[in-house]
Amino acid sequence: MSDNSTSTGFSHEKIETNNFLMIVLILLVIAVGGLVEIVPLFFQKTTTQAIEGVKPLTSLQLAGRDIYTREGCYNCHSQMIRPFRAETLRYGHYSVAGEFVYDHPFQWGSKRTGPDLHRVGGKYSDEWHRIHLNNPRDVVPESNMPAYSWLEKTPVDAAAMPAHMKALRMVGVPYTDAQIAAAEADVKGKTEIDALIAYLQSLGLALK
Ligand code: HEC
Repeated sequence: MSDNSTSTGFSHEKIETNNFLMIVLILLVIAVGGLVEIVPLFFQKTTTQAIEGVKPLTSLQLAGRDIYTREGCYNCHSQMIRPFRAETLRYGHYSVAGEFVYDHPFQWGSKRTGPDLHRVGGKYSDEWHRIHLNNPRDVVPESNMPAYSWLEKTPVDAAAMPAHMKALRMVGVPYTDAQIAAAEADVKGKTEIDALIAYLQSLGLALK
């Protein structure tokens, strides 16, 4: 009966015929594998520290980022350049973890109806973005991107900015008291399109 017992007396059959033992051991293997892969990421500088040149967004850029998430731009645009030749030729240096340290929540996205935007900063003039956001067809006739013409007429919610920056500071974005104190005045009188353009122009400059 104990044909498949090893010389040490251990029978694999015991595990294979016992559902409970099998489940416990599978969970143990997955837990150990997960810990070995995930835990070191919390201690590696490349994943926890911003790379040189990555700074927390200014009040205006941050307001723009909120509009980016509110309008769901991430449904059509990724901010994640993969390390493949076809991608780096088109978009520039692939994205690295140290560029997203202050991004809460990150805007990686997973769908590209439009192009990746991670390195769009500096690619076009502010004026180009203004025309494009108002009506994409004015600069790219075949575009199927929606027009966001109300952004130009809507003022930025300046009063919300200090609290927002404080909240980000709690999760590790190093805003100073002076930056938070000036946050409201910095965006006063600006429209949502100004903020969104400021945000787009800030994207991906650390690694060009
Ligand atoms: C329905 C999908 C869709 C949505 C939603 C969308 N876009 Fe686009 N976007 C596109 C497509 C398609 C293009 C390529 C054609 C063009 O340039 O208009 C594009 C192009 C762009 C470009 C030019 C990129 C380049 O490298 O040429 C920018 C910048 C941009 N979008 C920003 C935004 C922002 C900001 C939002 C949210 C306010 C947004 N998009 C929402 C589909 C979308």
